[in-house]
Amino acid sequence: MKISIIGTGYVGLVNAACFAKLGHQVICVDVDKEKVDKINQSISPIYEKDLEEIILKYKKNIYATTSYKEAIEKSDITFICVGTPSKKNGDIDLSFVDQATKEIAIYLKNKKSFHSIVVKSTVVPGTTQNHVLPLLEEITQKKAGVDFGVGMNPEFLREGAAVYDFLHPDRIVNGYYDDHTKKLLSILYSDFSCPIVETSLTAAEMIKYASNCFLATKISFINEIGNLCKRLGIDTYEVAEGIGLDDRIGRAFLDSGIGWGGSCFGKDVNALIAFAKEIKEPCNIIQSIVQVNEQQPLRLISVLKKHIPSLKGKTIGVLGLSFKPNTDDIRDSRSIILVKNLLKEGAQVKVYDPKAINNFKKLFSDIIYCDNAKDVLDADAVIIATAWDEFKKLDYKGKIVIDGRRLLEAKKTAKIYEGVCW
Ligand code: UGA
Repeated sequence: MKISIIGTGYVGLVNAACFAKLGHQVICVDVDKEKVDKINQSISPIYEKDLEEIILKYKKNIYATTSYKEAIEKSDITFICVGTPSKKNGDIDLSFVDQATKEIAIYLKNKKSFHSIVVKSTVVPGTTQNHVLPLLEEITQKKAGVDFGVGMNPEFLREGAAVYDFLHPDRIVNGYYDDHTKKLLSILYSDFSCPIVETSLTAAEMIKYASNCFLATKISFINEIGNLCKRLGIDTYEVAEGIGLDDRIGRAFLDSGIGWGGSCFGKDVNALIAFAKEIKEPCNIIQSIVQVNEQQPLRLISVLKKHIPSLKGKTIGVLGLSFKPNTDDIRDSRSIILVKNLLKEGAQVKVYDPKAINNFKKLFSDIIYCDNAKDVLDADAVIIATAWDEFKKLDYKGKIVIDGRRLLEAKKTAKIYEGVCW
């Protein structure tokens, strides 16, 4: 199939590369000329495991351009994969989706053959049907379902494992407005053996939000159970094992610690809360998972203060700044809350991360950045905030170690070792 993909962030580019690997002809569109040039030289503008290798290996099937005209004219289906960031009040910001839709519509207007537009960006329920579709109709002066098709096909890719997740999905969700788009999507995904859910545009959008909110709920839930376990002297990971064996619950996403971060969970959870508010529906559970998540890093500081009651003038080391290991992404990282609050307590803060230091420097100029993990260890106590592998192998040299990510190996060489929920 001939596919065009608007936006070459990690969702757009991973989809583009993987569709190329499946044998489709893919055109990527991005406004950023530098990114376009890199893709055309088979260089990935972002790091994602295995991505660059695929772009290079299947370069015959993939190229990039800044021209919407070329992309729409030379493809049968277009995926909108642009970002949907949060506004300050948590509302979803649809400006990139709008911009992409308007550009697509200009060239869709004159296209003779049937063409489907599929939203892959995460958008609140109703956006494709009530916003994207009318905008396309208005600009093209054509009728959706008759002259062009509309679909909504959410992604479930984890950063750092996005290529693997694309190629090994648990399910594929194809939201469609018209039968032609339904058919195109089913052909496109015909190589996959996982269940395919064919549904309305709005249900597809809700499935994405409900998935991320449920995963975030699991984490906040186990963190709350973990806080109770800690008080009772119970190992919360044994409890996670015990409940996770129930198929109805499942063990995944029950690792307690200092909570969830990243570019998706916080953004999507807050967008759903803002959306629910707008339509005047209560969202009590989802609101409370955010509260638990904001409090969880502070519990690590309470545990630390059991050993050092006043942090004023003390040096505290923080190992790990990225929101999870194997990425330099610090968006919504729990380390941001940790460092902010350590500084508020009057501590001097020393930090190390294998990849995320440069990003963190943009947020904090009044802390000490170390070139390696060992240099953090001359602090009065050390906090583990991200589960990087190298922190497992570190000799903690008899220090006080407070662990937010369950690296039990640290116990062996620490003087005092305590976990946030264990
Ligand atoms: C998440 C979802 O897992 C993807 O399915 C989804 O497609 C993606 O958001 C998105 O909407 O684009 P991602 O943000 O890459 O993917 O990160 P995860 O691997 O899910 O981890 C999120 C956070 O939860 C991390 O801070 C991680 O440390 C934390 N976590 C995860 C826990 O604290 N405990 C767990 O048991 C699992």
